[in-house]
Amino acid sequence: MARILIVDDHANDRYLLRTVLEAAGHSVTESVNGREALALARADPPDLVVSDVLMPELDGFGLCHEWHKNPLLAKIPFVFYSANYVKPDEERFARAAGAALFLQKPLAPEALEDAFAKLVGAERTAPRTLPEGEFAARHQDAVNRKLLEQIETLKTTQRGVIDLVSRLVEARDPYTAGHERRVGALAAGIGVELGFDENRCEGLRFAGQVHDVGKVSLPAEILVKPGRLTNWEYELVKSHTTVGHDLLAHLDFPWPLADVVRHHHERIDGSGYPDGLAGEAIGIEARIVGVADVVESMVSHRPYRPALGIEAALAELERGAGTHYDALAVAACRRLFRERDFRLPD
Ligand SMILES: [Fe+2]
Ligand SMILES: [Fe+2]
Repeated sequence: MARILIVDDHANDRYLLRTVLEAAGHSVTESVNGREALALARADPPDLVVSDVLMPELDGFGLCHEWHKNPLLAKIPFVFYSANYVKPDEERFARAAGAALFLQKPLAPEALEDAFAKLVGAERTAPRTLPEGEFAARHQDAVNRKLLEQIETLKTTQRGVIDLVSRLVEARDPYTAGHERRVGALAAGIGVELGFDENRCEGLRFAGQVHDVGKVSLPAEILVKPGRLTNWEYELVKSHTTVGHDLLAHLDFPWPLADVVRHHHERIDGSGYPDGLAGEAIGIEARIVGVADVVESMVSHRPYRPALGIEAALAELERGAGTHYDALAVAACRRLFRERDFRLPD
């Protein structure tokens, strides 16, 4: 049995590790960052420390460095336990700072126990850490890379969520299959034409992909109804903007997705819904998706009418430019089809 100090800012990760270690008979102390861990260990040195990498206050590398500068602690084995893919240079840096081991989450309980058993109680000389200057330079570099990695992971998750949402909407409404994706493609194309940067254009694509998410709350009979909608049905359809907004509003995206969902049916002269916003009170992304939405709807077949074609769609945009639709977005959309030979994806 060993006394093990866990250092991790995520309560869930601490809980999982504690459960595994206590089941193996060890006694566990938890701390939430390097600074706190250092204070705890100085007051009562453990037999082993297991640390996360990125943490507030003092991260794992910083803790490892301080740990091995302290003669009281330096002999106690220091293990990194990191969530992301461990790069060889990251592991090299951790070892240079004194770490005995660099493990990648999640490990099976037996593997963890094996790794720890070899370290605890083994005779070892205290490893050295790096000189201050070299540590500081490599530390900055390692943390920057780790942060970029986490941002990439987050982006992948966000894209996955958006893709799932858009598939759900399309599965629900087979008659408009591909509508979301095509609106996204056209909105992104308009963004490029307006000189938006890559990230903003990606946001437009995503906004298009989810703009009708609120339709999941509508009865299927309304979505596929071949004839005209009654007033009451129309009011219900309008609610897809506010319902969709409420579905997305609490999620944290780096693009104004919830705003686009709410406002893609607003019109420049204030005649749209749900808030009757006018002009620039409607976000530019919502104005762009609004234009892409009209075009895609008109060129595609609908249960209540055949496809009208791109010429009719462009004529409608011209008629409504500046009153219903954003004039710049209309001009950009026109250039896309007329000069850039833009095609909506199938
Ligand atoms: Fe809509
Ligand atoms: Fe739509």
